[in-house]
Amino acid sequence: MIQIAPSLLAANLLRIGDEVRNCEAAGADVLHVDVMDGHFVPPITFGPAFVQQLRSITTLPMDVHLMVSNPDHQVEQFAEAGADWISVHAEVAPNLHRTLQRIKHLGCRAGIVLNPATPLEHAFEAAGDAEFILLMSVNPGYGGQEFIPSFLTRCELLRTWLDTNGLGNVEIEVDGGIKIENARDAINAGASILVSGSGLFKGDLKAHIAAMRGVIS
Ligand code: DX5
Ligand code: ZN
Repeated sequence: MIQIAPSLLAANLLRIGDEVRNCEAAGADVLHVDVMDGHFVPPITFGPAFVQQLRSITTLPMDVHLMVSNPDHQVEQFAEAGADWISVHAEVAPNLHRTLQRIKHLGCRAGIVLNPATPLEHAFEAAGDAEFILLMSVNPGYGGQEFIPSFLTRCELLRTWLDTNGLGNVEIEVDGGIKIENARDAINAGASILVSGSGLFKGDLKAHIAAMRGVIS
């Protein structure tokens, strides 16, 4: 099953309740929440208090993407706040098996994130402890950036590697520059979870989610 995950980074935060209700009504599968600490990436975004408030207004799974320098210090707070999925960047998680196991122990789905310039091999050793691998298709930190086309080859290679190593159940998530026009390419390359911020929230959210569903089904 292909899942559509609107990224709340592009939502109107002054109307977040409406934005979330519109995501639900339009059939979004997951809410993607970008946590940035001002250190791993320059911006500062959402903390556990925001996730906790979201939890009280939606039953959609929350996919918390930790763009923070020390994810080990953060996973517990976000799990307690109501995150359903938590992903950590391999670039800043030196004890990756342990971190993923901890996320799962806290009751969440665990994901490994790789920046566009990080070799795929950096996810291989711990992939068996992950439920998904998030391949960035932009450098993290900002919404509205252009999709980096080398993602497609990387995604194909990773999908093949997972399938030939008994890890066919590990999903690939794509994040950055995904729009209605390139969603199909990402699916064809092996992604099954599509994060999209400006591609969905800029303009008519409901119509964009419906259109994205149309091109991928
Ligand atoms: C970027 C974030 C993304 C961002 C995607 O660092 O991880 O989730 O919201 O935004 P778009 O879809 O606009 O590229
Ligand atoms: Zn993200």
